[in-house]
Amino acid sequence: MSAQELETTARAMVAKGKGILAIDESLPTIKKRFDSISVESTEENRRAYRNLLITNPGGNEYISGMILFDETMRQTTTDGTPFPQALIKQGIMPGIKVDTGAKDMAGHSNEKITEGLDGLRERLAEYKKLGAKFAKWRAVITIGDGIPSTGCIEANAHVLARYAALCQEAGIVPMVEPEVLMDADNTIGRCYEVTLVTLKTVFNELFRQRVAIEHIILKINMVISGKKCKTQAGVQEVADQTVRCLLNTVPAALPGIVFLSGGQSAELATAHLNAMNAKYKNLPWPLSFSYGRALQDPCLKAWAGKKENVSAARAALLHREKCNSLACLGKYTAEIEQAA
Ligand code: 13P
Repeated sequence: MSAQELETTARAMVAKGKGILAIDESLPTIKKRFDSISVESTEENRRAYRNLLITNPGGNEYISGMILFDETMRQTTTDGTPFPQALIKQGIMPGIKVDTGAKDMAGHSNEKITEGLDGLRERLAEYKKLGAKFAKWRAVITIGDGIPSTGCIEANAHVLARYAALCQEAGIVPMVEPEVLMDADNTIGRCYEVTLVTLKTVFNELFRQRVAIEHIILKINMVISGKKCKTQAGVQEVADQTVRCLLNTVPAALPGIVFLSGGQSAELATAHLNAMNAKYKNLPWPLSFSYGRALQDPCLKAWAGKKENVSAARAALLHREKCNSLACLGKYTAEIEQAA
């Protein structure tokens, strides 16, 4: 893929009113999701569920790409079409999660380092043959007593940058995801500081590793109160602090920024994105979504592992996709939310 094609792919990922559906749950994570609806995590159940998500008619109006897990990349639709091909046929770009998970970081209690660089060049070549247009690597930054440490932020930024360089070499757009977790009791101000230093470090490392900023997509957390914080910032404050943090750290050459949902409720994740796009019309980059839980949760509940629920589950997914597409334009309203 030429530099021009990488840029075209990156821009298409954040095309107006479109976002990305993350369905790249690892085996332990999808088991957790299936446990919540009392469905066994067998290979066929995972295929059936991903089939429902991937072949949802009308989804391509709101979704530009989907992030798959290795197993999903190799599975097929019920009529035997490989999932990546089924997506391409609908005009949706297949993406692939290529990290091998966030592991305990030696010498750094309660902190994680993401692994997966070994053999990555060869894996990327294979994924490219299977149809991948973009990839994802998630780094996890934990807020707590005395953490995150500089060592953890720098190590994660370094591997993110080396992953991104390998992706660009392979002709695959890297989605660079440093996620500051929102599970602790910290204030929104602390989230702002940690996200700020994380982004500054990540862009510095991307520069050092000669990654072309024009050919990446940033996936990031919103700047938000920790879930256990007694004072929860309102929707507008989350929107304002998130935009302020991005303006202070992210180069204007970047084609686009997408948010993860990180445990926010489906409706709140949409409301936050909408508040940013409604107020800030002239940002250097489009702000869009790449949610996992905030798009899938209502769909997963409606499905509950039963064939007879597939159309209700698909309708629930399409509704969330539509709401978030409108939020990309700052046009999401309570009436639209209720019109499910
Ligand atoms: P959530 O939106 O559920 O946080 O997941 C998005 C994702 O892909 C995290 O890496």
